[in-house]
Amino acid sequence: MKVGAIVPAAGRGERLGGRDKVLAPLGGRPALAWVLDALVRSEVVEAIVVVASEANRTAIESLCRSLPTTVPVAVTRGGAERALSVRAGAETLGAATKFVLVHDAARPLVTPELIRRAVDAVQRHGAVVAAVPVVDTIKQVALDGRVVTTPDRRSLVAVQTPQVFRFDWLWEAYRRAGASLVTATDEAMLLERAGFPVYVFPGDPENLKITTPLDLAVAEFLLARRRSA
Ligand code: C5P
Repeated sequence: MKVGAIVPAAGRGERLGGRDKVLAPLGGRPALAWVLDALVRSEVVEAIVVVASEANRTAIESLCRSLPTTVPVAVTRGGAERALSVRAGAETLGAATKFVLVHDAARPLVTPELIRRAVDAVQRHGAVVAAVPVVDTIKQVALDGRVVTTPDRRSLVAVQTPQVFRFDWLWEAYRRAGASLVTATDEAMLLERAGFPVYVFPGDPENLKITTPLDLAVAEFLLARRRSA
């Protein structure tokens, strides 16, 4: 198989008042349904593994069964940290997969076009992440609040998912990470630590991550605007 997708959806959604953000209703359907829809419509993904928690597994399984799709969708059990959830997804996909595309269930505004851009980019570089310029000035601060340094904004980007990697590189990065795996907040970080070159490609400012109730409201607005365009 050329491209398999992993959709980590096993988070707890604490900043959404205990509501599960991947199942939060958005434009009349669960956020996760929008992600699966975009992956299928991209026509470049051959299999999808959704990583669920114990708490949302039944709801996610029935959502996946109700999707009209020709792409096989499996549901697997996640771990306590995001990196463990994605690794469980990679195990389910298996080593016959050439490229692994990871996309957060919490980013429902992803488009088929962005997914195709990601798959294009990985064929050139082997490890790629979607990125957008940062608009804020970013400061590194100490625990007591004192500013340590202000990096030059032109050298900074904010990364999103999709992130796509050669399966063999991701697997080797897991092997080298050992116990430090759990500290990775994205998969690119693991590949970087293992010494693999990771490249950015243009992300989409609308591809926001649902973290707070404000993000949900913005996502509703953006979806409504897309529908009326
Ligand atoms: O918590 P965060 O915003 O980083 O979560 C990003 C994505 O990773 C979400 O879609 C969430 O459901 C998923 N996740 C997971 N397993 C965890 C933690 C987060 O699949 N243990």
